[in-house]
Amino acid sequence: MGNLYRQVLKPLLFRLDPEQAHELGVDALELLGRLGPLCGLLERWHGLDRALHRPVRAFGLEFPNAIGLAAGFDKNARAWPAAAALGFGHVEIGTVTARPQPGNPAPRLFRYPAEGAVINRMGFNNEGAEAVAARLATRPGPGRRRIPLGVNLGKSKATPNEQATGDYLESFGRLADHADYVVVNVSSPNTPGLRALQDERPLRELLGALSAANRARGTGRRPLLLKIAPDLGWAQIDAALGVIAEFGLDGIIATNTTLARPGSFAEVGQAGGLSGAPLRRRSTEIVAYIARRTGGRLPIVAAGGVSDPEGAAEKLDAGASLVQVYTGLIYEGPFLAARLARAVAERQRGGVGR
Ligand SMILES: Cc1cc2nc3c(=O)[nH]c(=O)nc-3n(C[C@H](O)[C@H](O)[C@H](O)COP(=O)(O)O)c2cc1C
Repeated sequence: MGNLYRQVLKPLLFRLDPEQAHELGVDALELLGRLGPLCGLLERWHGLDRALHRPVRAFGLEFPNAIGLAAGFDKNARAWPAAAALGFGHVEIGTVTARPQPGNPAPRLFRYPAEGAVINRMGFNNEGAEAVAARLATRPGPGRRRIPLGVNLGKSKATPNEQATGDYLESFGRLADHADYVVVNVSSPNTPGLRALQDERPLRELLGALSAANRARGTGRRPLLLKIAPDLGWAQIDAALGVIAEFGLDGIIATNTTLARPGSFAEVGQAGGLSGAPLRRRSTEIVAYIARRTGGRLPIVAAGGVSDPEGAAEKLDAGASLVQVYTGLIYEGPFLAARLARAVAERQRGGVGR
């Protein structure tokens, strides 16, 4: 199937503007998600219940395998019902903001095929928490899904940083009922000032308020995770880990896209977050650092440049419980998840995996 994508679909999609190609992908998955029997067939064909099955327990949830769809692909929760049919063991929708917003002017997504990378400055284009909650309400909720669904929350652009906490709380209030886990995203580079929320003081205010709201839900409490940027220094990561420990957050996602421009990207003038192969090493390094600092006790979801089984194994070996992909799908196609999940499962059966 990988060949079909590489030889037929990819050349066609790569003739389109990257964002148009992305929209087409979301439309196709939304359609697939509506065709329940076809989804079921694909799932059986991929053998989600057999060959790909390598259950992972993390932050109180059961995942059929370690591979997930990273945030940003399915911003408005349209495509996720088809994710299990592609072999994913979880899916993260969003980033969703309290207010609907159009994002940055296009073009805002750029491919670099020779480097296996993309740069994006989408800017949290999304329909807003109310609309996304209404869409999720029409589908099976937590506990009744094939695979866990994470909801990734960000700050509305129109909301100043001083009011960020209220903005996140509003989204949390609207979306927590529909989420198997919730992600606090303070690491996207395309909302001015957002990454300053990773500093210890604002982070403490934000995570303190969100974890209090979460605790107040009682049995409806959701696993709460923080998603960090790969551009943080070790001291900043330590500070973030301190805040996570202080408020008892359930895990961390490492990492978002980078503002760094390694190697040949030094010449590229395009603003935005870089993802894909050039991010792989740095994000693995951060995963390994967090695993070391936390003695392996904090569940880590790894993202950054995974596009083959070796890349997924590298993240798991560094200490991740789960591995997410986005840019790899653009270059390797929609069946990458099944390929990765199968390889991870085989590796474990062979006694090599963790
Ligand atoms: C086009 C695009 C849009 C993204 N949008 C989001 C987003 O809305 N929220 C978020 O937390 N991460 C977003 N990301 C980051 C990914 O979730 C992921 O953390 C990052 O791309 C590294 O993984 P990758 O190298 O497999 O793409 C986006 C990435 C891309 C390429």
